[in-house]
This record gives sequence, structure tokens and C-alpha cells, in this order.
Amino acid sequence: MVMSNYKEIAFQPAGQFEETRFEKIHNIIFENSLEASKIVAYEIAALIRKKAAANEKCVLGLATGSSPIKVYEELVKLHKEEGLSFANVITFNLDEYWPMQPKNIQSYHYFMHEHLFNHIDILPENVHIPNGTIQPEEVYQYCVDYELKIKEAGGLDFQLLGIGRTGHIGFNEPGSHYNSSTRSITLDHITREDAASSFLGIDNVPKKAITMGISTIKKAKRVILLAWGEGKAGVVQTAVEGEVSSQIPATYLQHHHNATFVLDKEAASELTRIKTPWLVSSCVWTEELKKKAIFWLSDKVSKPILKLTDKDYNDYGMASLLVEEGSAYELNIKIFNGLQNTITGWPGGKPNADDSKRPERSTPAKKRVIIFSPHPDDDVISMGGTFDRLVEQGHEVHIAYQTSGNIAVSDDDALRFAEVAKSMSPDSTKINGVITSIQNKEANEIDTLDVRRLKGDIRKAESLGATRYLGVPDNQVHFLNLPFYETGKVKKNNLSQDDLDIMCELIDKVKPHQIYAAGDLADPHGTHKVCLDAVFGAVDALKGNDYMNDCWVWLYRGAWFEWQPYEIEMAVPMSPDQVVKKRHAIFYHQSQKDNVMFQGNDAREFWVRAEDRNRLTAEKYRNLGMTDYAAIEAFKRYHF
Ligand code: F6R
Repeated sequence: MVMSNYKEIAFQPAGQFEETRFEKIHNIIFENSLEASKIVAYEIAALIRKKAAANEKCVLGLATGSSPIKVYEELVKLHKEEGLSFANVITFNLDEYWPMQPKNIQSYHYFMHEHLFNHIDILPENVHIPNGTIQPEEVYQYCVDYELKIKEAGGLDFQLLGIGRTGHIGFNEPGSHYNSSTRSITLDHITREDAASSFLGIDNVPKKAITMGISTIKKAKRVILLAWGEGKAGVVQTAVEGEVSSQIPATYLQHHHNATFVLDKEAASELTRIKTPWLVSSCVWTEELKKKAIFWLSDKVSKPILKLTDKDYNDYGMASLLVEEGSAYELNIKIFNGLQNTITGWPGGKPNADDSKRPERSTPAKKRVIIFSPHPDDDVISMGGTFDRLVEQGHEVHIAYQTSGNIAVSDDDALRFAEVAKSMSPDSTKINGVITSIQNKEANEIDTLDVRRLKGDIRKAESLGATRYLGVPDNQVHFLNLPFYETGKVKKNNLSQDDLDIMCELIDKVKPHQIYAAGDLADPHGTHKVCLDAVFGAVDALKGNDYMNDCWVWLYRGAWFEWQPYEIEMAVPMSPDQVVKKRHAIFYHQSQKDNVMFQGNDAREFWVRAEDRNRLTAEKYRNLGMTDYAAIEAFKRYHF
């Protein structure tokens, strides 16, 4: 069951299982992380109030990272709007990097004050965060004392957790013992990679941390672990369904008597009951689920769709599907044809052709198209081949770069460009100012406005290189510079009306028949998600206009994930030559090549990832029984 109304389940006790064969930890799945965070904040608030009414202290174990941010926002809201007091609250944070100065913007000390403590009435003496400035020889005693303080406070009433891709809770990395207490630990390389974007590079991420232990966490009376996004789906599945193992420390929570995993749909997507529900219980066979099941079956038994037999269906928990559909023979043909109809070399529609079984309309033959690209390069990385076809097939293609992408340009690159500019204009105060501020920049300092402008301009010039190469006139290339992005930091502002106005203005001007947008729900720091919300918000605001009745929205995925065959509604094949052309278009984005700053957790360069992924989609289509293409770009339609 996917929860949508938090009031329905507020305070639902842990341990109430629906059909959850294979699952060993109670979990609740929400439509999105905001709804889920509200529930968690409500549970915490109720506990604080209950304790206050009994004149007791409420001892909270707190986490940092991206997962708990909305829970803290909600708690601050409850404090400001509903008078929730934290006067009786004592907090202990799970961990802190070591060494780390509390004033450093990457410190967990800074994080907790920025997101929670500065906005509530907690007594400063009741706040405990491991101290990242402690001398090496004092760390051991410091950790013993931290444990003692928790004990003296009466033990943790509640512990909030996130989960790392290594399966860590707190900073208990693989290998942590179930009896471990607060201690110093060496961070796993994967954990450091994940932190690299907020530290502007892995080299700046500390190698060590101080963390509460597994036994400290397990002693908490109540534990809630939060996980959002596809990036966490694999580790969540292992933690919930795998065997208890020190290699995935979160599995230790299987032995906690009152632990709940609170998940959004994406983080839950690898759980057996979500991924392959037919293996868990009887299911309602929607058209999408049928496709999902049959493509899965075909992969499982290594046979193309048309070779699947009644026995294959029966052997893999899908007998009820055959009962509903008749024989495997008819079902196979239906699903096969459906998949074949997703393939088109005419992403803008094929003029003068029967379009009843094609993904796009044949009319108008020449369409106006806007390709929204969150960063200045997602257009070519994610749909360079389709982009090329749309232009070649004579459509009026507009490219709209939603953000400037300025924080992803390295100081070295910016300096190189500034020095070239200086050679043309040695006395320019502006250029000299830019050079001096880059040279004198302290580690992790925010760039000056001029440096940010230069970095944005570098990406703009690269983008124009690529759009010209693909034949788009400059006046059809739009740099929206959405304001939410312009903080100079990894942490961005929330989407505002100003952002939506900019989006609406362009759509209203172009009046497109097709909009392409990045349907990417996971990137290392959420910009794609915000950009998608901006597209949805604008489309929603404009939907009363006549021209919007004629506008179809197609979602491609950004640099991190790809649609699965059962989700794909338009598959655009590419020839080997088109693959090479796309690669060259990506190469124009030189600042994002080689030592790219925001690599995410994949060491391959963007063009390699793009090619691997397009080749993989083609392979999946071939294995299902389709023609063998070199590469395929995939899209899913968004109905507004
Ligand atoms: C933070 C902590 C870590 C994080 C985990 C997930 O205090 O202890 O275990 O909870 O690394 O981080 P995010 O939420 O950023 O994915």
C-alpha cells in the first residue's frame, strides 16, 4: 500500500505487516518524501508533547544529511505555528566528521543549527553533537563520555536515521560490530564519494568521523529510518530483505523491536512486493503491471516475449494473469505489439502516416518543440540523438537551459578563461578582480558574483557550441537562469513564483506542440527534481490555454537513470553514426569532461554513461524480441 494521507496512519505502531513476504523490517511507503516527513515530524511532536505532559525530558537521537531535512522543516513549522515547545527536549546527534570545525558549512554542527536548532526553543545545553575538534588522544575518552551522557539523560526515546549507500547507519560503516558504541571510524570510500559534492570534491571530504555505535542506536526505544530516491532502493532492499550482516550495518535493525523504515516510492522500488508483486501475493493486473511482469519474466527465463509459454507464466507466480488473459500465446502477441509500437524514428511524428499505433501524432507535420534541459548539457547527454532527429526532420526546435550550471565549473577552468580574457584586455578591473578572487579563494568559500557569472558564461558558450553543431539557430536557444539555483552553493533555494513565471513566459511565447523535460527524480543534489517541478508547475498554470490542448509532454531521464522497458512509451533508435554524432555534441561541454566536479556515484564520464545506457536499452529491446539497434533513447509521456 502506498500511503497518501498522513492523518490516516499517524502513530501507527510498528510491526503491523500487510502482505510483506521476504521483509524483515517494518516499513511504510509514501507517495513522496514530503508527506512521509510530515508523518515522522508528527510522531516526534507527539512524543515531545506526551513527555512534556508527564513532566519528563524527551531524548532524541538526530541525524543529518539530505534525508531528514524536511522532517526538521516540519518540526520548525510545528514550533512556529502550533506552539510545539522543545524546552523539555535533549538531543544527541549521531555523528560528526573528524577533524571538523563547527563553523565549517559542511559540519553537522552547522547543519543542525541551520536546519533546526536556530529556529526552535531548545536549551543550548541540551544539544549534543560529537565534537570534530577533539584531539586524537582525547577521542577515546570523549566517546566514552558521550555514551555516558546519553545514559544519564535516560537513554534515547527516539532515534532518527538515514541510510548510506554502504548500508551505514550513523557512520557505522560495513564491518561495524553489533555491540559497537560511540567511537572514531574511518569513512568508506563510497560514503566520501557521496559527500564529495557538498565538499566540492572528494579530496576535501574528511577521512574519519565520530559516530554513535550500533549498540547505542539499538538501545533507542523507537527508531525511524528515512530513505528517499532510487539511489537508495538497492540498499533498502538489502537491509529489509537480506540476512543480518556486518557488511550492511542497517540489517542490524532487523533485531530492533520497534524500528520502521519510512520510504518514498522510489526508495521502496526494489522491495520484492513492489518490484515483483506477483511473487508476494495476488495482484491487480493493470496494463503497466502486465508489461512489467512479462518483461521481467522474459529476462528471468532468457527468452524473447513470443517464446514465453504457459508453463513459464505458471512457474513464476503469474498464473492469475493467464486466467485473466486467456493463453500465453495471445498475451505474448499483445504485449509484443505494444512494445513494437513504442519504436519510432520520427519523434516529432511521421508526416502523412497512419499514426494510430505510433507514439506521436503525424500532424502538424512541422511541430514547435521545447527541450528543457536542467543543466546546460542534459539535452545532449540524455536525448542528443532525438534532438538531432527533430532538427533534421524540420521541426522548430527550441532548447531551454533551466539553470546556469555555474557551480559545476572548476576554479581552474574559470581561471584559464579569465586569463585568456586578460590577455585581450590587461587593464580590465573586472577581469583582474575575477582573477584575484579565484586565486585568493579559501577552501569551500562561495564564489563572488562575477566569478559565478564567468562560470555560467563558460557553460553558455559550451552549450551554444553543441546547439550550433546540431543545427539550432541561436535565437532558439534560451538560457533561463532560474533564480532558485543561484545560491552559489550546493544547497539551492526552493522553487518560487519567479521561476515559474520565467518558465511560463517561454512556453507561452513558443506555444509548443511538444515539450521534452528531464523526468529525473534523483540527481546528487536534487536540481533535476526542482527543474521537473518547474515544468509541471508551468504546464499546470498554462493548461487553460487552447494551445496547451495540442501540447504533449515527453520525459527523458537525466544522467543517472533510464526508464525501464515497461515504462517506455517512445523509443527512438539510433544508428552507430548517430551515436558518434551525439558523442561529439556532448564533447562541446568541456568543463564537464574529465575531472568533473559533480560526478555523482558513477566514475564514468557523462558521454560514456549516455552511450552505455542507450546501448543497454537497445539490448533490452533486442532480448525482448525487437530489432537489434545500436542504441535507443527512451521517453515516457506525462499527462497533465
Ligand atoms: C548522518 C548520518 C548518515 C546519513 C546517511 C544518509 O548523520 O549519520 O548515516 O544519514 O549517510 O545520508 P543522506 O540522507 O544525505 O542520503
